[in-house]
Amino acid sequence: MTPKSSRSTLQRAADRGPERAPGRDRAVSTDLNDMTGTEIVDLRSDTVTRPSPGMRQAIAEAEVGDDVLGDDPTVKVLQARLAELLGMEASLFFPSGTQANQAGILLSTQRGTEAICEGNAHVYHYEFAGAAAWSGVQLRAVPTEDGVLTAELARPHIRPESPHLMRTSAICAENTHNMAGGKVMPLEVLRGLRGLADEHGMSLHLDGARLWNAAAATGTSAAEFAALADTVMVCFSKGLGAPIGSALAGTAEAIGRAHEWRKRLGGGMRQVGILAAAGLYALEHNLPRIGEDHDRAKRLAEFVDGLDGFHMIAPDTNIVMIDIERDDLTPADAVSFLEERGVWLLAPGPRRLRAVTHLDVDDAGIERASAAFEELAKR
Ligand SMILES: Cc1ncc(COP(=O)(O)O)c(C=O)c1O
Repeated sequence: MTPKSSRSTLQRAADRGPERAPGRDRAVSTDLNDMTGTEIVDLRSDTVTRPSPGMRQAIAEAEVGDDVLGDDPTVKVLQARLAELLGMEASLFFPSGTQANQAGILLSTQRGTEAICEGNAHVYHYEFAGAAAWSGVQLRAVPTEDGVLTAELARPHIRPESPHLMRTSAICAENTHNMAGGKVMPLEVLRGLRGLADEHGMSLHLDGARLWNAAAATGTSAAEFAALADTVMVCFSKGLGAPIGSALAGTAEAIGRAHEWRKRLGGGMRQVGILAAAGLYALEHNLPRIGEDHDRAKRLAEFVDGLDGFHMIAPDTNIVMIDIERDDLTPADAVSFLEERGVWLLAPGPRRLRAVTHLDVDDAGIERASAAFEELAKR
């Protein structure tokens, strides 16, 4: 057995198991105390949130039925509510954003064609070549400086009509862009992609895992973004704090076909109203406060940027990318230094750290993270 002293804070917290302190309104970082009682500020991702007592109650009280048989009333309410929110004809609940994205690509493309996405898109790097595996589609990843795929940048990558070249069947946009630091794709940029897609008879799929953040940051509604896409994927399990769940929205016809694909991909779920209830709770209670995460991300970013040896990319939303500019500090060393002080984040690049704010990080958490960075800068 590994002696306790050599176990990392992360391992020790994992050993402690799930939330132990019911009765709090928010599952704040205090439920992730390590063995020494240090409060953990978990900035690894906005997916680490734990359902709050209110959400757990909604889950416990959910009316359910067999959704594969079309019986689950709570799923139906969520799907209708989401379609309304996005201004789309219909939506379908999925277990994950990845599966919903893949269903979107399946609907938007034809086998043996190409789809354009941004060079660091989630569909390109993090979905296990799903577009190739399920849709038989080659993704053409377009490099951009800031993660924003404009029509101007995409246009040269559309294949001309030729007996020697495959057809370009779709564009996959991502808003906000995860690996570009939660970068917003402004409405006019998405409108440009829509125009390009129309010009070339292509479909437009929107990976809106964090579309809520884009809406909060710009004042453009999620429906205004969604109106420009053929299919839109959104997640309940990121900034909205639900334990699981995503959805795909589109025309009633497209969502009918998505239903078939979800079943084929093994995504048919039974009494899944317990999860849909979390999604409904998230839309009602957690969507309106999502801008708070942006304010906290900005505060952390500005503080760290002011320290010697660090440079941040100014965050549009809730994801802070911090580049280490010192040769004597690797991201791995920085992560373990911060971890020892109860601040958890990830190192997604050779010089880069990523900190993500969310529902379970409060002002005190940002202060603790800032203090830990200050200590690191003096190391
Ligand atoms: C932009 C983006 N799209 C899709 C996904 C996939 O979502 P899931 O983890 O629910 O499969 C993620 C997950 O982080 C994401 O950041």
